[in-house]
Amino acid sequence: MQSRTVVGLDTGRSAIKVVAYAEGARFSIMYPTLAVPAVELTDPTTAERAKSETEIVDGKAYFTGDTARLQGNLTSSIGLNDDWTDTPEYQALVKSAFTRLHKAGVPNLDSAYVVIGTPSKLYGTRQERLVEKTKLALPKGVEIKALPQPMGAYCDYVLDKSGMPIKDKLIGPSGRTKSYGVIEGGHFSTDFLLMKEGQYIERGADSCSGMSAAAEQLRRVLAKRNLTASLVECEEAFRTKTLFQFGEEIPIANEVLEAQSHVVQEIISKGNSLFADDARSLNGILIAGGSADAIHAITSQTWKHSILMENSRWSVAEGFARYGLGQLIRASISAIQQVAANG
Ligand SMILES: Nc1ncnc2c1ncn2[C@@H]1O[C@H](COP(=O)(O)OP(=O)(O)OP(=O)(O)O)[C@@H](O)[C@H]1O
Ligand SMILES: [Mg+2]
Repeated sequence: MQSRTVVGLDTGRSAIKVVAYAEGARFSIMYPTLAVPAVELTDPTTAERAKSETEIVDGKAYFTGDTARLQGNLTSSIGLNDDWTDTPEYQALVKSAFTRLHKAGVPNLDSAYVVIGTPSKLYGTRQERLVEKTKLALPKGVEIKALPQPMGAYCDYVLDKSGMPIKDKLIGPSGRTKSYGVIEGGHFSTDFLLMKEGQYIERGADSCSGMSAAAEQLRRVLAKRNLTASLVECEEAFRTKTLFQFGEEIPIANEVLEAQSHVVQEIISKGNSLFADDARSLNGILIAGGSADAIHAITSQTWKHSILMENSRWSVAEGFARYGLGQLIRASISAIQQVAANG
């Protein structure tokens, strides 16, 4: 089959998720969305490790990922605004994706097909600019396609690991193409998408708060109990339901629930207004992204056809990669047809 490498690149505001398919093998890489100007490191072992996570942008060196986290003295993630893809830090993080894929042994990166995403709300206005900006960071021979982020989750659901449509998920018993809503809950934003009978519906695409808002809320809730926590600790508590203080583990499950419920309520009312009349006629509402568990726990009470995506945090990157594989298959089929027609 085709030997072109495909890369699904999900540049989330908390972590970059990368899924690649090359010569039949799958690769996946995740690293924190952190980049800081690099400094000279004196310890040779640390310096060696840092080197593989350092990128040069416009002649300036940046640490990325864990090296940025450890060396940079950062207390929160970067890029909590819509313009962050215009920054040199974005360039450094995209470059780093390819450096890391290369290190993992992914072949043919110089001519890869790369699929990237924008928040739903910005797809119409931003996709061209994002493609241009991303191009600057990648090898010349790379082809880039931008999709709305939740489209990745949709592709992850309806396409198989070779990029081919899964018939049962796409076509209903009546022969009509199935319809889905997607809610993709991330760190900075939660993104919505409506696919009716296989068509992207413009009015169903929008975004609202992500879970970083719940972390801020949790910090306020804890402060009322005289507990101090950083935003990073608050996010950790979403998973652990405890807060570590002075050698003691304090259970805070109720506080976590309270803080998250504000954001989840916002997500539900957004979903209600976007999917409103369509919700009943949808075959499923796919819940994806890092905060999918928390969203699904509540939406499943109202929408019985809520579907929690497997490996929900990887859904967008995985679906982007599958979309890429599908495009290559389609291109090679039409090339074969053309040769056959001409010959
Ligand atoms: N159990 C949980 N409940 C709720 N939220 C969670 C849970 N575990 C992780 N999260 C949240 O998921 C988010 C990370 O998800 P994800 O990686 O999908 O976001 P992102 O892609 O980096 O952000 P964005 O898409 O907004 O740019 C974090 O905000 C984290 O707090
Ligand atoms: Mg995301």
